[in-house]
Amino acid sequence: MSATASSPVLAFVGAGALGQSFAGLLAKHGQAVTLLATQRTAASLLAAGRIRLQGIVACDIPAVSAPAPPGSVGITTDPADLPAGVGTIFLTKGHDLASAIAHVRAAWPRPGDDAAWVAGLQNGLAKDDMLAAAFGASRVVPGATILGGGRGADGVVTVTSLGMTYLGEMAGGSSPRVDAAIDALMAAGIPAEAPASIQSVLWSKACNAAGVFGVSVLARASGPQLSGDPNLMRAYLALVRETAATGAASDVTVGNYPNFPPIYTYAVSPEEETLSKITPGPLPRGGSLPSMTQDVLASRPMEVEQVFGDLVARAERAGVIVPHLTFVRNILRGIDRITRGD
Ligand SMILES: NC(=O)c1ccc[n+]([C@@H]2O[C@H](COP(=O)([O-])OP(=O)(O)OC[C@H]3O[C@@H](n4cnc5c(N)ncnc54)[C@H](OP(=O)(O)O)[C@@H]3O)[C@@H](O)[C@H]2O)c1
Repeated sequence: MSATASSPVLAFVGAGALGQSFAGLLAKHGQAVTLLATQRTAASLLAAGRIRLQGIVACDIPAVSAPAPPGSVGITTDPADLPAGVGTIFLTKGHDLASAIAHVRAAWPRPGDDAAWVAGLQNGLAKDDMLAAAFGASRVVPGATILGGGRGADGVVTVTSLGMTYLGEMAGGSSPRVDAAIDALMAAGIPAEAPASIQSVLWSKACNAAGVFGVSVLARASGPQLSGDPNLMRAYLALVRETAATGAASDVTVGNYPNFPPIYTYAVSPEEETLSKITPGPLPRGGSLPSMTQDVLASRPMEVEQVFGDLVARAERAGVIVPHLTFVRNILRGIDRITRGD
């Protein structure tokens, strides 16, 4: 299906930073798109009558009740409003994914809608198993994004990077439904591709998430501080290597992907070789904080289970020894429990 046709190709669940960015940009480029939101966010977007994106893409996009004409984002709280035959991409936080899946699955896809498919772009590897359990493995298109953004207290979304969005079939490569989704994203100005192995991308992203979140949450370090300090980089590399070894036990080889740390190189190179590339000198004072660090500092729940709990469980099943991942999982579980006031 052409991305410029009026019939929808994609729909989204979760109207936060990513959901508003993806849905807003598709609508801005004339596509028909539905965005399933929580009651409170649906009410505020419909009251405002628009999605406002700022940062590297500054625009207002009309937001109206679904179904919306092409060029507007159709907002709904009812999964029965999700169109037939589309790919629905879940963009809730990992800890809200189970309830969002249950809500959607109760009403969508309708019987006979054989073309409908689902994806989740959450950090961690757990999402695809959860989607497969609810919708069936054949409906799941694994995916990952490094599009970056955040939603401010005023509800406005700041897009910091369009990054790259990866979609691909579980067994590798592309398919007509993946090609249609990539066309739709590219037509909206969102870089997207189907890699040879989506599993390699997912594990490479998991390596970086484990390293960055594990170190940054504990050290309260920004990205530039982490990559500029040899001790923090040693800790990061230990988490990257353990995650890569866990992937290797499932026959997945991590890779070096554009606009992303060279995970394959980090996993296989001697540590001193990587550390020798750090520019000596004072550490930057600031720099943007990784999302999980922002969450803990704002007393929001962290995606501990979806990132660290799931990785450690996979390592245990495969017989891979992961002491650094286990240590981080345990500490972050404790911090998260304190944050939640359990
Ligand atoms: N932001 C990034 O730069 C980035 C990059 C790569 C990956 N990710 C991953 O992508 C995921 C989403 O990130 P985000 O930054 O967009 O998070 P976010 O801004 O917190 O947005 C999550 C959205 O999900 C909504 N939600 C929760 N439960 C729901 C349900 N049952 N039905 C419908 N909507 C529901 C939330 O509702 P409310 O509006 O009521 O809060 C919120 O709008 C996370 O797993 C994150 O790790 C994010």
